[in-house]
Amino acid sequence: MRLLPAQRLTGRLRLPGDKSISHRAALIAALATGPSEISNFSTARDCASTLQCLRDLGVEIEHAGDKLVFAGNQTLRAPRKPLDCGNSGSTMRILAGVLAGHDLTAELTGDESLSSRPMRRIIEPLELMGAQIEATGGKPPLKIRGRSKPKAITYKLPIASAQVKSAILFAGLNAEGRTTVIETSPSRDHTERLFNGFGVPVIANSDLSVALDGPARFAGGAITIPGDISSAAFFIAAAAMLSGSELVIEGVGLNPTRSGFLLALSSWGANISTADLRMERNEPVGTITVRGGMGEVRRDIDRVLDGDKIPSLIDELPLLAVVGTQIQGGIEIRDAGELRLKESDRLATTARNLRAMGADVNELSDGLRVSGPTQLHAATIDSFGDHRIAMAFSVAALLADGPTEIRGSESAAVSFPEFFGLLDSLTER
Ligand code: S3P
Repeated sequence: MRLLPAQRLTGRLRLPGDKSISHRAALIAALATGPSEISNFSTARDCASTLQCLRDLGVEIEHAGDKLVFAGNQTLRAPRKPLDCGNSGSTMRILAGVLAGHDLTAELTGDESLSSRPMRRIIEPLELMGAQIEATGGKPPLKIRGRSKPKAITYKLPIASAQVKSAILFAGLNAEGRTTVIETSPSRDHTERLFNGFGVPVIANSDLSVALDGPARFAGGAITIPGDISSAAFFIAAAAMLSGSELVIEGVGLNPTRSGFLLALSSWGANISTADLRMERNEPVGTITVRGGMGEVRRDIDRVLDGDKIPSLIDELPLLAVVGTQIQGGIEIRDAGELRLKESDRLATTARNLRAMGADVNELSDGLRVSGPTQLHAATIDSFGDHRIAMAFSVAALLADGPTEIRGSESAAVSFPEFFGLLDSLTER
């Protein structure tokens, strides 16, 4: 994909449903006693992987117009072939939790990137709950033998991970007694919100623990998935950095455990406002308006993104590093070693591509130091097959001094197949 520099972004749009919420809604609908209807389901390839795995487990899912319809009261059956999770870490890790609580054996496989990602983080708690899991050096493929009555456990997460927390909570649905997960840092809470929204109470305590009492079943029902804020992030950042932009995104998810990048951008001088706030099955949804041009960097700001802030903007860090090149005084990212374990080593791939565009970047063991402001130069960028790198550097390309080529741009479809088409329709050159 070849991208030209841009003057501004203008438009009003709605986005396909949030990827994280879509995975969870599909799993909940598959396990519910009654029928469910999901509107605005994510168009991400990752979420298609979740649906295919569920179908391979015998779950009936139909398309009715733009809705997904789940019959409810389904029994998962052992799949005849390995369940292909594609590129999707959420599919593999959270589905492993579902399978740990069912009396069947299944194998979970993934593409080359997913096959190199760490799975011990779910193997350990799910084995404590009674599942038997085979893996090679803690990596996929995973062969899981679940049990219909797993053990209820109390588990302290060694890392902040919503996928691990969710795997344990899904396994806990069929356990007798209280399953408790204690977090070190608050991670995205979609599982807790949706469990509560579909009739399974999850209690969140002030000590960062969440708990559910099993056995418990979901009621089923209808949900419209909020627009994906992590997809919106690319357009929001681009509009903020290009003065004269005016962008309105309606019906987008505004969950505080996901919207840390809005706070970071605002503190760096971006003009972003939210309105029309409402709830959809406990998930906050609203309209985001961005007016282009970065104002004064607020004096109270912390140029360092670190600690508890990291989980709320984890997927936006490559993009925020790109924005950092435009901020007076630059920015620093710390406590983000987890980025090395994503679809690519995002600290290395971000640093390498920023340098290719002429930015001054220090790669740290757990973060990045980015100097700014810098004029980015036209370059050839490698996505390293990572959707968020492809899209973050497409935003960088809009700021460059000439045409930029993004190699492996098709990886954007992993989370956002419409990205390049929408970007083109919003951009004025
Ligand atoms: C996700 C959680 C995060 C995030 C990923 C989606 C989820 O991963 O990076 O894109 O849907 O729960 P971790 O749980 O590994 O932090």
